[in-house]
Amino acid sequence: MRFAATKAGPSFSASTGVVTKMANGLSGASKDSNAGKDGLDIKAVEAPDRLAMDDIFLEDTTGVNEEAVLCLQKGMPGLLYRHHGLRQPPRRDQVRAHPLLHPANNGGAALHPTDPSTPTLFRPLTIRDVTLKNRIVVSPMCMYSAECDPSSPLVGALTDYHIAHLGHFAVKGAGLIFVEAQAVQFNGRISPNDAGLWDHSPESEQFKSLQRIVRFCHSQGAKVAVQLHHAGRKASVTAPWVATEAGKRSLRAEASVGGWPSDVVGPSGGPENIWDGTGEGYWTPRALTVEEIQDVVQAFAKSAEAAVRAGVDVLEIHGAHGYLINQFLSPITNTRTDQYGGSFENRTRLVREIATAVRAAIPSGTPLFLRISASEWMEGHDVAAESGTWNLESSLQLLPLLPELGIDLLDVSSGGNHKDQNIVKVVANTNYQIDLAAQLRKAIRKAGAPTLVGAVGFITEAEQAQGLVQGSDEAHAINDTVSGPEATADLVLLARQFLREPEWVLNAAKALGAKVDLPVQFRRAINL
Ligand SMILES: Cc1cc2nc3c(=O)[nH]c(=O)nc-3n(C[C@H](O)[C@H](O)[C@H](O)COP(=O)(O)O)c2cc1C
Repeated sequence: MRFAATKAGPSFSASTGVVTKMANGLSGASKDSNAGKDGLDIKAVEAPDRLAMDDIFLEDTTGVNEEAVLCLQKGMPGLLYRHHGLRQPPRRDQVRAHPLLHPANNGGAALHPTDPSTPTLFRPLTIRDVTLKNRIVVSPMCMYSAECDPSSPLVGALTDYHIAHLGHFAVKGAGLIFVEAQAVQFNGRISPNDAGLWDHSPESEQFKSLQRIVRFCHSQGAKVAVQLHHAGRKASVTAPWVATEAGKRSLRAEASVGGWPSDVVGPSGGPENIWDGTGEGYWTPRALTVEEIQDVVQAFAKSAEAAVRAGVDVLEIHGAHGYLINQFLSPITNTRTDQYGGSFENRTRLVREIATAVRAAIPSGTPLFLRISASEWMEGHDVAAESGTWNLESSLQLLPLLPELGIDLLDVSSGGNHKDQNIVKVVANTNYQIDLAAQLRKAIRKAGAPTLVGAVGFITEAEQAQGLVQGSDEAHAINDTVSGPEATADLVLLARQFLREPEWVLNAAKALGAKVDLPVQFRRAINL
């Protein structure tokens, strides 16, 4: 169906969808009699070729979007502004930003959010000024799919791939979508193909590409989180599949493929601090100077501020998986003797400084999460006996600091800081990480602290996810878990299951009998 507009008299109705009526088979001016005085006349210049779809528009207000596209194609902003009651013709970018003109959806949102029959998993969760429509979060997942040429303006920027990848989770109802780990410094990437946000200019491709992701996810009713990241000594390796294809667990990225071998950093340097111990798969790190540590702290803050400017709703500090912050936390990987090493207070200094700087750089209404490896799973190893280790007790010790640092949610992950970790043993029990979340949440609730907890790891089933958050509202309401049902977490994060089953949220709603909104485009195919 195509339309043409002519300045031909009083025929456009500002109150009804002229194009919709046209799509119903009329040609020429609208049959509406309450047309605007100086309205445009719209004519169908070709026979309808999508009548079935247009029938849907008749029932559906989002037909407005189709009109917008048509009008933009035909260069008819005047039509749009009349249709939407705007005083001035909008500029093209304003037209794009107009909420009605996105394919606005709110898939995965409960139709009756306060109804007690709505499973907790599908109840909204408000953290500071941000309300998630449900408690299902797409966990951060590096896709190693950004431009790697350091001389390209696109280096580190998100791409069309990310729009498709993250966008479809948004269409399909996730409440919060993590953009993958985004490096706060050039040398903070894991691979040359990682995404980053070290270029904070609004004109930068890193900024604009993030803004684009946010805009699209918001149009689908999803909130967006950025995970701020520095890879430390695990940096400058190739994408994992490149290593796998070469028959290796990891492959160092040379400068010739965009790597930065001489600028891989950590709390402690030298060959004894190479992540895999051999130097085959990872580079030798050098120890950061105190001045460089301060630069890292500022880089986190600046990236956070830029992310908020780009429209991001939630920030997370990546303190897990053996990356820079985790390396500082662990006495195994942090052998410094200055104010950033040694005691618990000194080893937590970096994360405390980063959290303080990030919190100061973002609005008070913006939630701040912290992901930690709640245990590095090194118990029983000689090195842990010699130097100590970061384990559940260390994480419990960290908890009281979180509220004063402005951290709203602890995202409980584990492992990744040492090649000899016992994770192979613990993984036989797929609850190994969820159990850590449960224990940490119990301690938080017992202390009466407000910190929320996210559970992640091997969450695949709807009932399982619901079971993890069941009771969390009730516990918060009575400010206790002892006398109420005890939840494991306040929200769940899923990673691999979303790759296998992108429509997991909608499937979970069906499995749990939750009545949720559907993306309009899918309504003919899905019936909940
Ligand atoms: C492809 C892929 C990329 C990942 N990238 C990140 C990342 O950027 N940041 C992070 O904290 N965790 C990352 N993870 C870990 C996940 O966020 C999640 O914690 C982990 O996969 C366990 O959850 P799951 O059992 O639901 O997959 C990644 C996982 C996968 C599978």
